Amino acid sequence: MEPKHILIVVTGGIAAYKACDLTSRLSKTGHEIRVVMTDHATKFVTPLTFESLCHKPVLTTLFEDHPEDPIAHVNLAKWADTVCVVPATANIIGKIAHGIADDLASTVCLAAFRQRILCPAMNVHMYENPAVQDNLDLLRSRGWQVLEPVSGHLACQDEGKGKLPDVETIAEVILSSLQEKPLAGKRVVVTAGPTQEALDPVRFISNHSTGKQGYAIAKAARDMGADVTLITGPVALPAPWGMEVVPVVSALDMFEAVKARAGADVFVLAAAVSDFRPAQVADQKIKKRDAALVTELEPNPDILAWLGEHKKPGQKLVGFAMETQNLETNARHKLEAKNCDLLVANDLFMPGAGFGTDTNVVLFITPRETRRLEKTTKEELGFRILKEALTC
Ligand code: C5P
Repeated sequence: MEPKHILIVVTGGIAAYKACDLTSRLSKTGHEIRVVMTDHATKFVTPLTFESLCHKPVLTTLFEDHPEDPIAHVNLAKWADTVCVVPATANIIGKIAHGIADDLASTVCLAAFRQRILCPAMNVHMYENPAVQDNLDLLRSRGWQVLEPVSGHLACQDEGKGKLPDVETIAEVILSSLQEKPLAGKRVVVTAGPTQEALDPVRFISNHSTGKQGYAIAKAARDMGADVTLITGPVALPAPWGMEVVPVVSALDMFEAVKARAGADVFVLAAAVSDFRPAQVADQKIKKRDAALVTELEPNPDILAWLGEHKKPGQKLVGFAMETQNLETNARHKLEAKNCDLLVANDLFMPGAGFGTDTNVVLFITPRETRRLEKTTKEELGFRILKEALTC
Protein backbone atom coordinates (compact mmCIF):
# COMPACT_ATOMS: atom_id res chain seq x y z
CA MET A 1 0.00 0.00 0.00
CA GLU A 2 1.14 3.57 -0.74
CA PRO A 3 1.90 5.59 2.44
CA LYS A 4 -1.33 7.26 3.64
CA HIS A 5 -2.22 10.02 6.12
CA ILE A 6 -3.67 9.15 9.53
CA LEU A 7 -4.91 11.83 11.94
CA ILE A 8 -5.29 10.76 15.57
CA VAL A 9 -7.56 13.03 17.63
CA VAL A 10 -6.92 12.52 21.35
CA THR A 11 -9.57 13.71 23.81
CA GLY A 12 -9.54 13.97 27.61
CA GLY A 13 -10.00 10.50 29.10
CA ILE A 14 -7.57 8.33 31.03
CA ALA A 15 -7.34 6.03 27.99
CA ALA A 16 -5.36 8.87 26.33
CA TYR A 17 -2.23 7.05 27.46
CA LYS A 18 -3.15 4.14 25.15
CA ALA A 19 -3.24 6.56 22.20
CA CYS A 20 0.55 6.92 22.73
CA ASP A 21 1.09 3.21 22.08
CA LEU A 22 -1.26 3.42 19.09
CA THR A 23 0.70 6.35 17.63
CA SER A 24 3.95 4.50 18.15
CA ARG A 25 2.64 1.37 16.38
CA LEU A 26 1.14 3.29 13.48
CA SER A 27 4.26 5.35 12.94
CA LYS A 28 6.16 2.08 12.28
CA THR A 29 3.81 1.13 9.42
CA GLY A 30 5.24 3.63 6.93
CA HIS A 31 2.13 5.84 7.00
CA GLU A 32 2.28 9.52 8.02
CA ILE A 33 0.75 10.23 11.42
CA ARG A 34 -0.39 13.58 12.85
CA VAL A 35 -1.92 14.14 16.26
CA VAL A 36 -4.43 16.73 17.50
CA MET A 37 -5.27 16.95 21.22
CA THR A 38 -8.01 18.66 23.20
CA ASP A 39 -7.02 20.85 26.11
CA HIS A 40 -8.29 18.20 28.55
CA ALA A 41 -6.26 15.47 26.80
CA THR A 42 -3.07 17.45 27.54
CA LYS A 43 -3.83 17.06 31.27
CA PHE A 44 -3.40 13.28 30.90
CA VAL A 45 -0.51 13.09 28.40
CA THR A 46 1.72 15.84 27.05
CA PRO A 47 1.89 16.89 23.39
CA LEU A 48 5.63 16.24 23.61
CA THR A 49 4.94 12.51 24.13
CA PHE A 50 3.05 12.32 20.83
CA GLU A 51 5.53 14.62 19.04
CA SER A 52 8.33 12.28 19.98
CA LEU A 53 6.37 9.28 18.66
CA CYS A 54 5.12 10.70 15.35
CA HIS A 55 7.94 13.21 14.68
CA LYS A 56 5.47 15.97 13.77
CA PRO A 57 4.20 18.99 15.72
CA VAL A 58 1.10 18.23 17.76
CA LEU A 59 -1.65 20.87 17.54
CA THR A 60 -3.97 21.63 20.44
CA THR A 61 -5.55 25.03 19.66
CA LEU A 62 -7.43 26.58 16.75
CA PHE A 63 -4.87 29.38 16.21
CA GLU A 64 -2.26 29.95 18.94
CA ASP A 65 0.13 27.01 18.44
CA HIS A 66 0.34 27.31 14.62
CA PRO A 67 0.18 30.99 13.59
CA GLU A 68 1.69 30.05 10.21
CA ASP A 69 -1.48 28.10 9.28
CA PRO A 70 -4.65 29.84 10.47
CA ILE A 71 -6.89 27.25 8.79
CA ALA A 72 -5.07 24.18 10.08
CA HIS A 73 -8.42 22.62 11.01
CA VAL A 74 -9.50 22.52 7.35
CA ASN A 75 -6.06 21.63 6.01
CA LEU A 76 -5.66 18.73 8.45
CA ALA A 77 -9.10 17.39 7.54
CA LYS A 78 -8.20 17.58 3.83
CA TRP A 79 -4.82 15.95 4.49
CA ALA A 80 -6.25 12.97 6.44
CA ASP A 81 -7.22 9.74 4.67
CA THR A 82 -8.51 8.53 8.04
CA VAL A 83 -9.39 10.50 11.18
CA CYS A 84 -9.60 8.40 14.34
CA VAL A 85 -10.79 9.88 17.65
CA VAL A 86 -9.15 7.85 20.40
CA PRO A 87 -10.23 7.91 23.13
CA ALA A 88 -13.53 9.60 22.26
CA THR A 89 -15.19 11.13 25.31
CA ALA A 90 -18.97 11.66 25.68
CA ASN A 91 -18.18 15.35 25.17
CA ILE A 92 -16.53 15.06 21.73
CA ILE A 93 -19.16 12.53 20.60
CA GLY A 94 -21.92 15.00 21.56
CA LYS A 95 -20.15 17.89 19.87
CA ILE A 96 -19.58 16.08 16.57
CA ALA A 97 -23.15 14.72 16.56
CA HIS A 98 -24.60 18.19 17.04
CA GLY A 99 -22.23 20.24 14.91
CA ILE A 100 -20.46 22.09 17.71
CA ALA A 101 -16.97 23.21 16.72
CA ASP A 102 -15.45 25.15 19.61
CA ASP A 103 -11.86 23.85 19.62
CA LEU A 104 -9.40 22.40 17.11
CA ALA A 105 -10.33 18.73 17.76
CA SER A 106 -14.09 19.18 17.26
CA THR A 107 -13.56 21.51 14.29
CA VAL A 108 -11.26 19.04 12.51
CA CYS A 109 -13.77 16.24 13.13
CA LEU A 110 -16.58 18.28 11.57
CA ALA A 111 -14.40 19.19 8.60
CA ALA A 112 -13.28 15.55 8.03
CA PHE A 113 -14.90 13.88 5.03
CA ARG A 114 -13.04 10.64 4.26
CA GLN A 115 -12.72 7.68 6.66
CA ARG A 116 -13.87 8.62 10.19
CA ILE A 117 -13.57 6.35 13.21
CA LEU A 118 -14.63 6.88 16.84
CA CYS A 119 -13.25 4.83 19.74
CA PRO A 120 -15.45 5.72 22.74
CA ALA A 121 -13.98 5.10 26.21
CA MET A 122 -15.64 6.30 29.42
CA ASN A 123 -17.44 5.24 32.57
CA VAL A 124 -20.02 2.51 31.89
CA HIS A 125 -22.95 4.63 33.10
CA MET A 126 -21.91 7.53 30.90
CA TYR A 127 -21.52 5.14 27.96
CA GLU A 128 -24.94 3.59 28.53
CA ASN A 129 -26.60 7.00 28.90
CA PRO A 130 -29.23 7.30 26.14
CA ALA A 131 -27.80 10.71 25.21
CA VAL A 132 -24.45 9.10 24.33
CA GLN A 133 -26.04 6.08 22.64
CA ASP A 134 -28.33 8.28 20.53
CA ASN A 135 -25.38 10.45 19.52
CA LEU A 136 -23.41 7.36 18.48
CA ASP A 137 -26.35 6.07 16.43
CA LEU A 138 -26.63 9.45 14.74
CA LEU A 139 -22.93 9.43 13.90
CA ARG A 140 -23.08 5.84 12.62
CA SER A 141 -25.91 6.87 10.30
CA ARG A 142 -23.70 9.69 9.03
CA GLY A 143 -20.83 7.40 8.10
CA TRP A 144 -18.73 7.34 11.26
CA GLN A 145 -17.40 3.89 12.14
CA VAL A 146 -17.81 3.28 15.88
CA LEU A 147 -15.40 0.82 17.45
CA GLU A 148 -17.34 -0.16 20.55
CA PRO A 149 -15.62 -0.25 23.93
CA VAL A 150 -15.08 -3.58 25.68
CA SER A 151 -16.18 -4.66 29.15
CA GLY A 152 -13.84 -4.86 32.10
CA HIS A 153 -12.59 -3.13 35.21
CA LEU A 154 -12.65 0.61 34.49
CA ALA A 155 -10.26 3.27 35.79
CA CYS A 156 -13.17 4.71 37.85
CA GLN A 157 -13.32 1.30 39.66
CA ASP A 158 -16.66 0.37 38.03
CA GLU A 159 -17.07 -2.87 36.10
CA GLY A 160 -18.71 -2.70 32.70
CA LYS A 161 -18.50 -1.62 29.07
CA GLY A 162 -16.28 1.41 28.66
CA LYS A 163 -12.67 0.30 28.05
CA LEU A 164 -10.88 0.93 24.79
CA PRO A 165 -10.39 -2.27 22.76
CA ASP A 166 -6.75 -3.34 22.68
CA VAL A 167 -4.44 -1.07 20.75
CA GLU A 168 -3.63 -3.79 18.19
CA THR A 169 -7.32 -4.00 17.24
CA ILE A 170 -7.61 -0.20 16.92
CA ALA A 171 -4.51 -0.16 14.70
CA GLU A 172 -6.02 -2.93 12.53
CA VAL A 173 -9.30 -1.01 12.18
CA ILE A 174 -7.42 2.14 11.10
CA LEU A 175 -5.21 0.27 8.63
CA SER A 176 -8.25 -1.56 7.28
CA SER A 177 -10.00 1.78 6.64
CA LEU A 178 -7.12 2.76 4.33
CA GLN A 179 -7.55 -0.20 1.99
CA GLU A 180 -9.45 0.01 -1.29
CA LYS A 181 -12.76 -1.88 -1.23
CA PRO A 182 -13.01 -3.92 -4.46
CA LEU A 183 -15.04 -6.59 -2.60
CA ALA A 184 -17.71 -4.17 -1.30
CA GLY A 185 -21.13 -5.80 -1.54
CA LYS A 186 -19.64 -9.31 -2.02
CA ARG A 187 -20.12 -12.22 0.35
CA VAL A 188 -16.91 -14.17 0.99
CA VAL A 189 -16.73 -17.46 2.89
CA VAL A 190 -13.34 -18.66 4.14
CA THR A 191 -12.64 -21.99 5.84
CA ALA A 192 -9.56 -22.23 8.06
CA GLY A 193 -7.69 -24.44 10.48
CA PRO A 194 -7.83 -28.21 10.96
CA THR A 195 -10.86 -30.37 11.68
CA GLN A 196 -10.94 -32.82 14.57
CA GLU A 197 -12.52 -36.23 14.08
CA ALA A 198 -13.46 -37.86 17.37
CA LEU A 199 -12.29 -41.39 18.20
CA ASP A 200 -13.74 -41.37 21.70
CA PRO A 201 -14.70 -38.62 24.20
CA VAL A 202 -11.03 -37.66 24.79
CA ARG A 203 -9.19 -38.39 21.52
CA PHE A 204 -9.39 -37.25 17.93
CA ILE A 205 -7.64 -37.46 14.56
CA SER A 206 -6.42 -34.11 13.23
CA ASN A 207 -3.45 -32.39 11.54
CA HIS A 208 -0.92 -29.61 12.12
CA SER A 209 -2.88 -26.73 10.56
CA THR A 210 -2.76 -23.55 12.71
CA GLY A 211 -5.29 -21.53 10.69
CA LYS A 212 -2.82 -18.68 10.04
CA GLN A 213 -3.27 -18.58 6.27
CA GLY A 214 -7.07 -18.90 6.38
CA TYR A 215 -7.37 -16.18 9.04
CA ALA A 216 -5.12 -13.87 7.00
CA ILE A 217 -7.37 -14.40 3.93
CA ALA A 218 -10.53 -13.67 5.94
CA LYS A 219 -8.99 -10.45 7.31
CA ALA A 220 -7.86 -9.39 3.84
CA ALA A 221 -11.39 -9.98 2.50
CA ARG A 222 -12.79 -7.85 5.33
CA ASP A 223 -10.28 -5.08 4.64
CA MET A 224 -11.22 -5.21 0.93
CA GLY A 225 -14.83 -4.46 1.92
CA ALA A 226 -16.44 -7.93 1.77
CA ASP A 227 -19.09 -9.29 4.07
CA VAL A 228 -17.03 -12.18 5.48
CA THR A 229 -17.85 -15.48 7.17
CA LEU A 230 -14.90 -17.34 8.64
CA ILE A 231 -15.69 -21.01 9.30
CA THR A 232 -12.91 -22.19 11.54
CA GLY A 233 -11.76 -25.48 13.00
CA PRO A 234 -10.21 -25.44 16.48
CA VAL A 235 -7.17 -23.06 16.49
CA ALA A 236 -5.34 -20.90 19.01
CA LEU A 237 -5.90 -17.62 17.12
CA PRO A 238 -8.15 -14.82 18.43
CA ALA A 239 -11.43 -14.32 16.54
CA PRO A 240 -10.89 -11.43 14.09
CA TRP A 241 -13.17 -8.38 14.39
CA GLY A 242 -15.58 -7.28 11.69
CA MET A 243 -16.77 -10.67 10.40
CA GLU A 244 -19.05 -13.58 11.23
CA VAL A 245 -16.94 -16.28 12.90
CA VAL A 246 -18.43 -19.79 12.92
CA PRO A 247 -16.43 -22.23 15.06
CA VAL A 248 -16.74 -25.89 14.03
CA VAL A 249 -15.00 -29.08 15.12
CA SER A 250 -15.43 -31.88 12.55
CA ALA A 251 -15.48 -32.00 8.74
CA LEU A 252 -19.20 -32.79 8.88
CA ASP A 253 -19.82 -29.61 10.96
CA MET A 254 -17.75 -27.59 8.49
CA PHE A 255 -19.68 -29.05 5.56
CA GLU A 256 -23.02 -28.04 7.12
CA ALA A 257 -21.75 -24.49 7.85
CA VAL A 258 -20.55 -24.11 4.23
CA LYS A 259 -23.75 -25.53 2.72
CA ALA A 260 -25.79 -23.03 4.77
CA ARG A 261 -23.89 -20.24 2.95
CA ALA A 262 -23.78 -21.82 -0.50
CA GLY A 263 -25.01 -18.60 -2.17
CA ALA A 264 -21.84 -16.60 -1.33
CA ASP A 265 -19.92 -14.87 -4.15
CA VAL A 266 -16.43 -16.14 -3.28
CA PHE A 267 -15.29 -19.24 -1.38
CA VAL A 268 -11.72 -19.68 -0.24
CA LEU A 269 -11.30 -23.11 1.30
CA ALA A 270 -8.03 -22.91 3.20
CA ALA A 271 -8.99 -25.41 5.90
CA ALA A 272 -7.01 -28.63 6.21
CA VAL A 273 -10.04 -30.88 6.36
CA SER A 274 -9.45 -34.42 7.63
CA ASP A 275 -10.08 -36.75 4.71
CA PHE A 276 -11.25 -39.57 7.00
CA ARG A 277 -13.13 -39.94 10.27
CA PRO A 278 -13.45 -42.95 12.58
CA ALA A 279 -16.42 -45.04 11.45
CA GLN A 280 -17.38 -45.67 15.08
CA VAL A 281 -16.96 -43.11 17.86
CA ALA A 282 -16.64 -44.91 21.19
CA ASP A 283 -18.93 -43.39 23.79
CA GLN A 284 -16.45 -44.20 26.60
CA LYS A 285 -12.67 -43.69 26.63
CA ILE A 286 -10.95 -46.56 24.80
CA LYS A 287 -8.90 -48.46 27.38
CA LYS A 288 -5.19 -49.12 27.05
CA ARG A 289 -4.26 -52.72 26.25
CA ASP A 290 -1.27 -54.69 24.92
CA ALA A 291 -2.88 -55.79 21.64
CA ALA A 292 -2.96 -53.51 18.57
CA LEU A 293 -6.01 -51.30 18.18
CA VAL A 294 -7.66 -51.57 14.78
CA THR A 295 -10.25 -48.99 13.87
CA GLU A 296 -12.00 -48.38 10.59
CA LEU A 297 -11.93 -44.91 9.01
CA GLU A 298 -14.55 -43.72 6.57
CA PRO A 299 -14.16 -40.87 4.08
CA ASN A 300 -15.38 -37.36 4.89
CA PRO A 301 -17.33 -35.40 2.29
CA ASP A 302 -15.11 -33.24 0.07
CA ILE A 303 -16.53 -29.77 0.72
CA LEU A 304 -14.64 -28.10 -2.11
CA ALA A 305 -15.72 -30.76 -4.62
CA TRP A 306 -19.35 -30.32 -3.48
CA LEU A 307 -19.13 -26.55 -4.04
CA GLY A 308 -17.55 -27.21 -7.45
CA GLU A 309 -20.45 -29.48 -8.41
CA HIS A 310 -23.05 -26.94 -7.24
CA LYS A 311 -21.26 -23.83 -8.53
CA LYS A 312 -23.56 -20.91 -9.34
CA PRO A 313 -22.93 -18.52 -12.25
CA GLY A 314 -20.36 -15.87 -11.32
CA GLN A 315 -19.30 -17.67 -8.14
CA LYS A 316 -15.54 -17.91 -7.56
CA LEU A 317 -14.05 -20.97 -5.95
CA VAL A 318 -10.53 -21.01 -4.54
CA GLY A 319 -9.00 -24.22 -3.21
CA PHE A 320 -5.69 -25.08 -1.61
CA ALA A 321 -3.36 -27.98 -2.22
CA MET A 322 -0.59 -28.89 0.14
CA GLU A 323 1.56 -31.58 -1.36
CA THR A 324 4.78 -33.38 -0.52
CA GLN A 325 5.52 -34.44 -4.13
CA ASN A 326 4.59 -33.57 -7.77
CA LEU A 327 3.12 -30.29 -6.58
CA GLU A 328 2.08 -28.78 -9.89
CA THR A 329 0.67 -31.94 -11.48
CA ASN A 330 -1.33 -32.90 -8.40
CA ALA A 331 -2.59 -29.35 -7.89
CA ARG A 332 -3.72 -28.92 -11.51
CA HIS A 333 -5.54 -32.22 -11.28
CA LYS A 334 -7.33 -30.90 -8.15
CA LEU A 335 -8.24 -27.63 -9.89
CA GLU A 336 -9.99 -29.58 -12.65
CA ALA A 337 -11.50 -32.32 -10.51
CA LYS A 338 -13.04 -29.82 -8.07
CA ASN A 339 -14.10 -27.24 -10.69
CA CYS A 340 -12.08 -24.41 -9.03
CA ASP A 341 -11.19 -21.01 -10.50
CA LEU A 342 -7.91 -20.82 -8.59
CA LEU A 343 -5.82 -23.40 -6.80
CA VAL A 344 -3.18 -22.16 -4.36
CA ALA A 345 -0.55 -24.87 -4.12
CA ASN A 346 2.27 -25.19 -1.65
CA ASP A 347 4.92 -27.75 -0.94
CA LEU A 348 5.10 -28.79 2.71
CA PHE A 349 8.88 -29.33 2.51
CA MET A 350 9.68 -25.92 0.94
CA PRO A 351 11.49 -23.61 3.44
CA GLY A 352 9.21 -20.68 4.37
CA ALA A 353 6.01 -22.56 3.48
CA GLY A 354 3.57 -24.80 5.30
CA PHE A 355 2.02 -25.21 8.75
CA GLY A 356 2.54 -22.54 11.40
CA THR A 357 5.03 -20.37 9.44
CA ASP A 358 4.41 -16.63 8.98
CA THR A 359 5.33 -16.84 5.30
CA ASN A 360 4.25 -18.94 2.36
CA VAL A 361 5.68 -19.93 -1.02
CA VAL A 362 2.95 -20.87 -3.47
CA LEU A 363 1.94 -21.53 -7.05
CA PHE A 364 -1.20 -19.92 -8.44
CA ILE A 365 -2.86 -22.45 -10.74
CA THR A 366 -5.79 -21.27 -12.85
CA PRO A 367 -7.44 -22.94 -15.85
CA ARG A 368 -5.23 -20.69 -18.07
CA GLU A 369 -1.81 -20.67 -16.42
CA THR A 370 0.55 -21.58 -13.60
CA ARG A 371 2.43 -18.81 -11.81
CA ARG A 372 5.06 -19.10 -9.09
CA LEU A 373 4.94 -16.32 -6.47
CA GLU A 374 7.93 -15.09 -4.49
CA LYS A 375 8.03 -15.96 -0.79
CA THR A 376 5.56 -13.62 0.92
CA THR A 377 3.89 -13.13 4.28
CA LYS A 378 0.61 -14.96 4.82
CA GLU A 379 -1.07 -11.52 5.28
CA GLU A 380 0.13 -10.25 1.90
CA LEU A 381 -0.75 -13.55 0.24
CA GLY A 382 -4.32 -13.16 1.56
CA PHE A 383 -4.72 -9.96 -0.51
CA ARG A 384 -3.06 -11.49 -3.58
CA ILE A 385 -5.31 -14.56 -3.52
CA LEU A 386 -8.46 -12.43 -3.39
CA LYS A 387 -7.25 -10.08 -6.13
CA GLU A 388 -6.45 -13.09 -8.31
CA ALA A 389 -9.87 -14.60 -7.56
CA LEU A 390 -11.52 -11.39 -8.81
CA THR A 391 -9.72 -11.51 -12.14
CA CYS A 392 -9.21 -15.20 -12.97
O1 C5P B 1 -7.88 -33.08 -2.20
P1 C5P B 1 -7.27 -32.27 -1.13
O2 C5P B 1 -7.79 -32.60 0.23
O3 C5P B 1 -5.79 -32.20 -1.14
O4 C5P B 1 -7.78 -30.79 -1.51
C1 C5P B 1 -7.48 -29.71 -0.71
C2 C5P B 1 -8.52 -28.65 -0.89
O5 C5P B 1 -9.82 -29.22 -0.71
C3 C5P B 1 -8.45 -27.57 0.18
O6 C5P B 1 -8.93 -26.36 -0.40
C4 C5P B 1 -9.38 -28.09 1.26
O7 C5P B 1 -9.89 -27.03 2.08
C5 C5P B 1 -10.45 -28.75 0.45
N1 C5P B 1 -11.07 -29.91 1.11
C6 C5P B 1 -12.40 -29.88 1.41
N2 C5P B 1 -13.01 -30.98 1.97
C7 C5P B 1 -12.30 -32.10 2.21
C8 C5P B 1 -10.94 -32.16 1.90
C9 C5P B 1 -10.35 -31.04 1.34
O8 C5P B 1 -13.04 -28.86 1.20
N3 C5P B 1 -12.90 -33.13 2.77
